[in-house]
Amino acid sequence: MQGRVGLRQVAAVRYAAALREGGSLPGLMEGDDLGTWVVKFRGAGQGRAALVAEVVVGELARELGLPVPEIVVVDVDPQLGRTEPDQEVQDLLRASAGANLGSDYLPGSITYDPLAFLVAPELAARVLWLDALTLNVDRSWRNPNLLVWGGGLWLIDHGAALYPHHDWASADRAIARSLPGVDDHVLLTAVAARPEAFAQADAELAERVEEALLTAVLERVPDDWLAVPPQRYVQWLLARVAARGAWRDAVIAALGSVDEAGRAAKPEDAGRSERSEQSGRSGRSGRPDWLRAGDWLRTGGARPRQPGGRGDA
Ligand SMILES: Nc1ncnc2c1ncn2[C@@H]1O[C@H](COP(=O)(O)OP(=O)(O)O)[C@@H](O)[C@H]1O
Ligand SMILES: [Mg+2]
Repeated sequence: MQGRVGLRQVAAVRYAAALREGGSLPGLMEGDDLGTWVVKFRGAGQGRAALVAEVVVGELARELGLPVPEIVVVDVDPQLGRTEPDQEVQDLLRASAGANLGSDYLPGSITYDPLAFLVAPELAARVLWLDALTLNVDRSWRNPNLLVWGGGLWLIDHGAALYPHHDWASADRAIARSLPGVDDHVLLTAVAARPEAFAQADAELAERVEEALLTAVLERVPDDWLAVPPQRYVQWLLARVAARGAWRDAVIAALGSVDEAGRAAKPEDAGRSERSEQSGRSGRSGRPDWLRAGDWLRTGGARPRQPGGRGDA
């Protein structure tokens, strides 16, 4: 575990561009640390709970050895919006004074394409396990929220995870809930190449998700984002770990159905293959010719180095 309490604090100095592909209106901002940050705003429609999920799941992933761009708190002065021509951005900045969420911008990264890149089953299994634990419903074929950068896979966008926290009164009914949409998880077929990898990930990771680790992760969340005491999250996640038999078996069943189908292309894959061929890929898998069986991305296990030249304070 890293020896830190809060996240690093950065002051925004300029709004550089909107990232229009995101549903949460993220923007690129320059920081006073000379960094470029993908900022999610406290004043955006999703609200602060989505920012809490970003920190809790992103930092938990990092503690479990998964590659996540550095997360910081970006302080926004609403005056920055004054020179912004776009009314929507002006309004967003005005509504977002104070602590916002920043993710280290990975320049030149591309969205993970399961037909173009092979991910080692061990790494895929750990990501799938984390998503099942945290009920992250946002890692689908259509919307992978995984980037490929520097030869490795990076996890982004955990704002939709922990969704029961939008209604704490009913959150305990979700303690044993299976991951909705697991059949459509973008890494399911990668794990199915070696389904035992999921049981291994479960055995290894479950014992690491302890009270002390979760408490340390919750300490990184800015106080004024939290609608409940941080211990509520800690206890809820511990209860999910304790009840994991149910949601784990649902993932194992989903992995089994991939095997039985022989990983045959689903009807909707046809369009994808066509697109892949247009982009210079060949074969039924749509993998590029240069990608041979041994060229798997192997970023699992070791703690990834942080991008950019900034220190990980
Ligand atoms: N750290 C990052 N580095 C580079 N690009 C990023 C990063 N974070 C997000 N993006 C890009 O911005 C898009 C939207 O960000 P995301 O976190 O997925 O927000 P949303 O909640 O709006 O989907 C991503 O699909 C990706 O293309
Ligand atoms: Mg996204």
